[in-house]
Amino acid sequence: MAMRFFLIAASAAVLASAQAPPSNSSECTAKSFSLPSWLIEDVKYDDGAVSFDVSNRAIDFAESLVCKTKETGLSACSIQGKRWANNTLEASVETNSESTTFYLKQSWTCNDRGKTLIFTAAGNSSAAIDYDAPVLIKGSLTSPVTITPAYPAGPRGHDSPGCTSKSETPSWTLSAVYFTDKPGDGNNSLPFQNFNLLVTNPANGYQASCMPRGSVGGQPDLSSLSCAGYEFQGTVGQYSIVTAAGFDPDTYAFTLNQTWYCDDTDAARPLQITASGTTTLPLTCTTSPGPNNRTSRYCTIERSSLPLDGNLATVTTLRPYALEEPIPPTRDGCTLTSIFNPRWEFSHFQTTTSGDETEDDSTSGTVSFEVILAAEDRGFQYPIPIYQGEALEGEEEGWYECDIGADGGNGLPLWPYKCSFRYDAEGQGLELKADWACRDLDRENPINFSGVTTTSVDTTLTCETTASGQSRCTTDDPGYIWVAPITDVTW
Ligand SMILES: *[C@@H]1O[C@H](CO)[C@@H](O)[C@H](O)[C@H]1NC(C)=O
Ligand SMILES: *[C@@H]1O[C@H](CO)[C@@H](O)[C@H](O)[C@H]1NC(C)=O
Ligand SMILES: *[C@@H]1O[C@H](CO)[C@@H](O)[C@H](O)[C@H]1NC(C)=O
Ligand SMILES: *[C@@H]1O[C@H](CO)[C@@H](O)[C@H](O)[C@H]1NC(C)=O
Ligand SMILES: *[C@@H]1O[C@H](CO)[C@@H](O)[C@H](O)[C@H]1NC(C)=O
Ligand SMILES: *[C@@H]1O[C@H](CO)[C@@H](O)[C@H](O)[C@H]1NC(C)=O
Ligand SMILES: *[C@@H]1O[C@H](CO)[C@@H](O)[C@H](O)[C@H]1NC(C)=O
Repeated sequence: MAMRFFLIAASAAVLASAQAPPSNSSECTAKSFSLPSWLIEDVKYDDGAVSFDVSNRAIDFAESLVCKTKETGLSACSIQGKRWANNTLEASVETNSESTTFYLKQSWTCNDRGKTLIFTAAGNSSAAIDYDAPVLIKGSLTSPVTITPAYPAGPRGHDSPGCTSKSETPSWTLSAVYFTDKPGDGNNSLPFQNFNLLVTNPANGYQASCMPRGSVGGQPDLSSLSCAGYEFQGTVGQYSIVTAAGFDPDTYAFTLNQTWYCDDTDAARPLQITASGTTTLPLTCTTSPGPNNRTSRYCTIERSSLPLDGNLATVTTLRPYALEEPIPPTRDGCTLTSIFNPRWEFSHFQTTTSGDETEDDSTSGTVSFEVILAAEDRGFQYPIPIYQGEALEGEEEGWYECDIGADGGNGLPLWPYKCSFRYDAEGQGLELKADWACRDLDRENPINFSGVTTTSVDTTLTCETTASGQSRCTTDDPGYIWVAPITDVTW
């Protein structure tokens, strides 16, 4: 059985590699931020030398290298053949009797975003001397920002020990099976059918809940059930487990199709496995008399779970390390917004002036507003309120510290963590000096940005006197928002 399984896998591999997506040089920047990494392939050991091919997964770069291995310690490598224009690659290896460690450092440029950025990344990885699959070297960037990009977790259970071997004889466990069939009376109550179950794949521990997907003529269509797991798309990566099922209310026949992934034996050779299974569910039903001499059925299985044996349909070898390969974002988050199009979005601007006539109006007022980085991808973040804090002195006379509102969010704020501002009531001019941090690319190592904004509240403020004698001025349109660029951005 095992033999047959791997024969299928090997023949499918040819198919899969031919379908590898072409690299898209216009995504140079997005890929360089999310997957600076290399594949080492075709490693050959010769007398006192090791040769291999290296390709950069972020850009269209591939070269063949040769390294003269000394007795011990690091050996520098040289590129064979043509030089790569404007890209620098430093490579070295360290070889002992059992394994080789590859060290890489490379700089390259991307200019697909209007602004030319120089990327520098470095990484290392070891492989046994007799290992013949591609070796992945994950890179950490040191330019233009210092980050180690996060990798997605991949589809559920893909690397759990035994995933591949258990998948050779596919099976599932069915549980929580419920079938309801209530005929309609022909006038008022409509006929109603429902079917639910849980399906668990023991190879990867993945559990999906199946329910009717849509309806045919107002009736749920039980022949096409939709099955969903509890995975969060954001961290799964580009391959997610897909389950489809169907149930026949007349024969109790249940069919299941599922596609899942295993790379527990070798992440360089990830498998995509599709299998299907069919069974007649041993449903036990309680009935009650319904209208028109028809009976209503409520059915379930007596045991807590039921095995379902499956048949392998296809096994495909995907490209090396595909399951945890990061997906370059299509919309700019915190970091890319801060680099390419840094802007604050302001809202809820208001001034409050105390009724105290003894003080000059322009200094006794306090200003508040809400602000958020105008990123394309804001996740679940909303603007944070900024209140007027301590007055600054000396050279910063007229400026106030920001009293930043309660941090209601968590993970990835798009707000200043520190700022100061100055407001000119006469001309409605607002200046903001802000520091903010981005951790969308690397949660552990946030990138600190700072920049200044000079803008104005370009709408009419309407003032009213509150019960306590204060004068409060707000924008005419309470929903008025405006966006202003952040200049002199540094990090
Ligand atoms: C490359 O990416 C750009 C932007 O995402 C897209 O418009 C273009 O169609 C892509 N080209 C190819 C060949 O995939
Ligand atoms: C290399 O860089 C130089 C200057 O930065 C530029 O003029 C030249 O066009 C670049 N060459 C290539 C092949 O990109
Ligand atoms: C090798 O890579 C690890 C992370 O994978 C890193 O911590 C270490 O500093 C690297 N070693 C060298 C010599 O670059
Ligand atoms: C359906 O409608 C008919 C005529 O209005 C009525 O006699 C009959 O009792 C109704 N059946 C049910 C089950 O309500
Ligand atoms: C399962 O896959 C087979 C073959 O592609 C297809 O004929 C069948 O309709 C599928 N069943 C379900 C329930 O999706
Ligand atoms: C229900 O069944 C009984 C006995 O079989 C029959 O006499 C009656 O006509 C049926 N009623 C309807 C509405 O079909
Ligand atoms: C970013 O700013 C925070 C808060 O001021 C500070 O603790 C941290 O060390 C800074 N990080 C870097 C990389 O400068």
